[in-house]
Amino acid sequence: MGKNVWEEFFDGHAPEYMNNVFTKNTKAEVDFLIEELNLAKGSSILDIGCGTGRHSIELAGRGYQVTGIDLSSGMLAEAKKSAATAGVKVEWVKADAARFASQKTFDAAICLCEGAFGLLNTEDDPLDHELSILKSINRAIKPEAKVIFTVLNGLAFARKYSQEDVEKGKFDPITMTGTHLMELETGGGKKELRVRERGFVPTELVLMFRQAGFEVENVWGGTAGKWGRRPVDLDEMEIMIVAHKNTDVD
Ligand SMILES: C[S@@+](CC[C@H](N)C(=O)[O-])C[C@H]1O[C@@H](n2cnc3c(N)ncnc32)[C@H](O)[C@@H]1O
Repeated sequence: MGKNVWEEFFDGHAPEYMNNVFTKNTKAEVDFLIEELNLAKGSSILDIGCGTGRHSIELAGRGYQVTGIDLSSGMLAEAKKSAATAGVKVEWVKADAARFASQKTFDAAICLCEGAFGLLNTEDDPLDHELSILKSINRAIKPEAKVIFTVLNGLAFARKYSQEDVEKGKFDPITMTGTHLMELETGGGKKELRVRERGFVPTELVLMFRQAGFEVENVWGGTAGKWGRRPVDLDEMEIMIVAHKNTDVD
């Protein structure tokens, strides 16, 4: 089986990833996470789709035990370098968020900036993929443990895509999936990858989380640089979900 298309993209993009403007708010985001998770120092946090480890490393530096999992070896290599520079210890695991199993159970989990959630491989079913991620995370955390996600805003997708996009197959309103080309710089020149990204509307998020054994506490605006305890803006890029693991569901 070939590489997951997102793995291929992020392996190539890894050295430049931290130049993206949306990565520039890590300290403020970690302040927010710590306040919202409200965990004792030393608690364990699972970072799903951790990428270059920007949240994992900052959280480890503030006294938490962090495990970061990601599909991309390139992103994990950048994470390892940054952790060494910062002088912090994080456990890095290369795994697919839709399929991983953990020996440990964690006090909390984060899945930020589309860390796997909504990033579909060519053959992935847009409904099953996200449920598999949620169920894997649910199994890996303790009862009542909190989770914080930021995911692509389907309300904005619905306003951004046109009827023509639907007719041309660029946007599927049934699965809220957009298909587009991403350019990747390879050693031998540029390569175009056809990728699918899934947006989510708040109502389905609440139901989907419930189906996977969580109860959603809040749905807030979650666009990078604009996190806040505020209603979702219809046109913004990302939604934040704060939820906890239900104890009466296994
Ligand atoms: C946009 S980056 C977000 C990284 C990080 N959470 C952040 O906030 O900067 C998305 C990450 O998800 C990872 N990813 C994509 N699909 C994945 C999957 N199925 N399992 C694990 N990681 C995945 C990518 O490799 C990439 O590192």
